[in-house]
Formats: sequence, C-alpha cells, structure tokens
Amino acid sequence: MSQPVAPPSSTSSVTGIDPQTLAQILDVCGMVAREVQKVFIGPAELPEILLTALLARGHALLEGVPGVAKTTLCKGFSRALGCSFKRIQFTPDLLPSDITGTYILDMRDNKFVLREGPIFAHIVLGDEINRAPAKTQSALLEAMQESQVTIEGETRPLGPPFMVLATQNPVEHEGTYPLPEAQVDRFLVKVAVRYPTPEDERRMLLTYNRPRAEVRAILSPEDIIRLGQLADQVHVEDELFDYILSLTQYTRKHRRVYLGASPRAGLALLQASKARALTKGRDYVLPDDVKLLAPYVLSHRIMMTPEAELEGVLADAVVNEALERVSYKRAR
Ligand SMILES: Nc1ncnc2c1ncn2[C@@H]1O[C@H](COP(=O)(O)OP(=O)(O)OP(=O)(O)O)[C@@H](O)[C@H]1O
Ligand SMILES: [Mg+2]
Repeated sequence: MSQPVAPPSSTSSVTGIDPQTLAQILDVCGMVAREVQKVFIGPAELPEILLTALLARGHALLEGVPGVAKTTLCKGFSRALGCSFKRIQFTPDLLPSDITGTYILDMRDNKFVLREGPIFAHIVLGDEINRAPAKTQSALLEAMQESQVTIEGETRPLGPPFMVLATQNPVEHEGTYPLPEAQVDRFLVKVAVRYPTPEDERRMLLTYNRPRAEVRAILSPEDIIRLGQLADQVHVEDELFDYILSLTQYTRKHRRVYLGASPRAGLALLQASKARALTKGRDYVLPDDVKLLAPYVLSHRIMMTPEAELEGVLADAVVNEALERVSYKRAR
C-alpha cells in the first residue's frame, strides 16, 4: 500500500498477538488468494476482499455482467477455504423452502424428518439472486442476518463459519427482481466484477482448454473461526474512529445524496478494516485499510437523489470524493 505509517508503538502489547502468528496469517491469506487465482484470472484484490468479509463475519454481493467469472470466483474461493459449500441457482420458481429445507415423512418409522436445504453449508453461493421473487430472496437474507433458519417453528443454527456469496447482474431486464436498497445493506461488501484487462483475458483464452490446476484447501472451518476471533482483537487508533465517522458524515451531508451511510455502515467499515489488517499480517489498522475498503463497504448503502440518478452520478463517486476530501489526522 502507498502510505507508510509507522505502527503505533504500544500495538503488540495491546493485542498480545505474537509476531510469528501474524507472519503466518499473512502467508496463509496470500496463499488463499493465489489458490483462487488458479481458476479466476484477475486481480488478487477480489479474493482478498472476500476473505476480509469472511473474517469480519460478513456476506458479499458480487455484481457484474454475464460471463465475467463471478461464479468461477466464488467456487474457487470456497474451495480454498476447505469448508462445506452449496450453490443455489435462483430461478423465478424457486421457493423459500427450496433454500431452507422441509420436513418430509419418513415411511420407515412414520416420523417427520428435516430434509435440510442448501442453506446448511459454511459457504453458500446464491447465484443470480435477482432472478427469484422477493419472498424467496427474503429467506436467504433472513438466514444471513440471523445466522439461523426457522423451519416449521424449529430454529436451526448456521455455521460458524457461515457466509453467503450472492451474485447478481446489474443490467435489469424482464423477469428480474432487483434487491431493495434496504436489503442490499445486509451485505458487508459489494464487489463489482469487471471485464478483465486485455492481458488477463488473453491468458484466459490461451489456457481455457488446459486442465485447470486443482484449488487446494488452505484453511479449515476451525481456522476461519480462530482468524475471526483474532480480527476482533486488532487494534484501532482513536484517530481512525474519527476518520471513519468523518467519511460516513461526508456522505450524509452530500447534496446529491438522498440517504447517506448509516451508523451501521460505519461499524461495518470498522470491522472490515480490522479483518483486512489481520489478513495483511498486522494487529493494527492503517488508514489505507479504511481507504481501500470504503468503496466496497459504503457505496451500496448510499442512495442518491432521483436527479443525481438521472444524471448518472453514482454512489461510488461520492465515496471517492469523501476519500479525497476527508483527511486522516494523526494526533501525534
Ligand atoms: N477472469 C476469468 N478467469 C477465468 N475464467 C474466466 C474469466 N472470465 C471468464 N472466464 C470463463 O468464462 C466462463 C464464464 O464464467 P462464469 O460462469 O464464472 O461467469 P459468470 O460471471 O458467473 O456469468 P453469469 O452471469 O452468466 O452467471 C467460464 O468458462 C470461465 O472459466
Ligand atoms: Mg454465474
């Protein structure tokens, strides 16, 4: 990252995470991204953001036009995690119970038994979620929010770890149901999967019929839980709280913004920054962690005024403006 900021002197004693552990975490997180890149030809930043969201116990929404490797990225990522993985292809006729499960009669002993739906996995890929109607989307979003599902009055926990990776196509067309703004908020990060660079696309074309290297499982569910706990301990300087506050407040005061980033959005940015710091082998957050994550965490939680929307002014631009105008002030 660009800005070298010296670590706060008291940091290691504040967290108690030993430097060797931090060095191992840096290695392992780098390995996860490289494993994903065996099948997803694109920037390491994307798998890195997904890993950050996982350690911050969040969910990720991936948006991109058809054929830019959204599904490929999600599948590769989940394989590298060594977790149970299920994919749900959303379709207009998908029912909530197709996600959560149903009780069926077991003829052998005349008892109702739960047939678990695909939501019962550590990593759940909700593919093309805007192709299913609101009621079915809600089943997924409720499970995400509560990390549990209730089926016929019986509540079952999900995970840990439990992460939903949802993909959607930003081009609205007939027969799609875009997620309401309030629900997009349930995702810790929204990741835009863009067209590859010409070099990456060329590499993809050249290698498409070669046998793909197997994505190895680098982590285990227990590792992920442990890393999440360590991320909670990551140190945050007082000035960084102020920095996050100033960023969210900037979006609220912006004249083109109808609904700015909420306090929940600020909290999400804080948690994601701590997780990101850990993946980079640090036990303290840098302003650069916040800067890198702000567009991923804040943009999808900001609603623009109708005029701004008509003129094509996007929430991304407001977040970038906030990052340019709001300066991080060190006390010392
Ligand atoms: N950056 C890339 N790296 C590796 N493979 C790619 C890349 N871009 C496209 N592909 C290839 O293109 C095909 C489409 O990828 P994939 O199904 O993951 O796209 P998608 O974004 O999920 O599309 P859709 O929106 O239609 O579901 C796959 O065969 C994939 O291997
Ligand atoms: Mg897909």
